[in-house]
Amino acid sequence: MLARNEKTMQARFEVETIKQDVVPLLSGGPFAEFPNMAELFFRQRDGSVKKIDAKPGVSVMQLAIQENIRGIDAECGGACACATCHVYIDEAHIPLLPAPADDEAEMLDGVAAERRETSRLACQVIVSDALDGMVIEVPERQF
Ligand code: FES
Repeated sequence: MLARNEKTMQARFEVETIKQDVVPLLSGGPFAEFPNMAELFFRQRDGSVKKIDAKPGVSVMQLAIQENIRGIDAECGGACACATCHVYIDEAHIPLLPAPADDEAEMLDGVAAERRETSRLACQVIVSDALDGMVIEVPERQF
């Protein structure tokens, strides 16, 4: 029994040691160039605009769900398999996004609302500092 407790204590010590090594890297080092937040604007179906401070690294779909933006259904949970997270990105920010991958482009062919040059799947758009100020418009329908 004592040996098991010693192993547990050793494991805890190792975890704490790793945390001490990793946490400073996340808050400084190579991650220091990322800002804390990007300001995004959702234009909703009723015409209202909701401003959201987003942490880089989350998808626009995750953010919409988390912030209760109506009209982004995300039936597949972000697996790029349903196209019910279709959104329109403002023209100024479209060139800042990576081009849609083949699977996203294929799903965009089947969106329910009008497909535009600025159409994207929100689950495939990852927030970064470069997207600060981006406007995301919710289309009139997803089905
Ligand atoms: S959530 Fe299903 S394609 Fe984006």
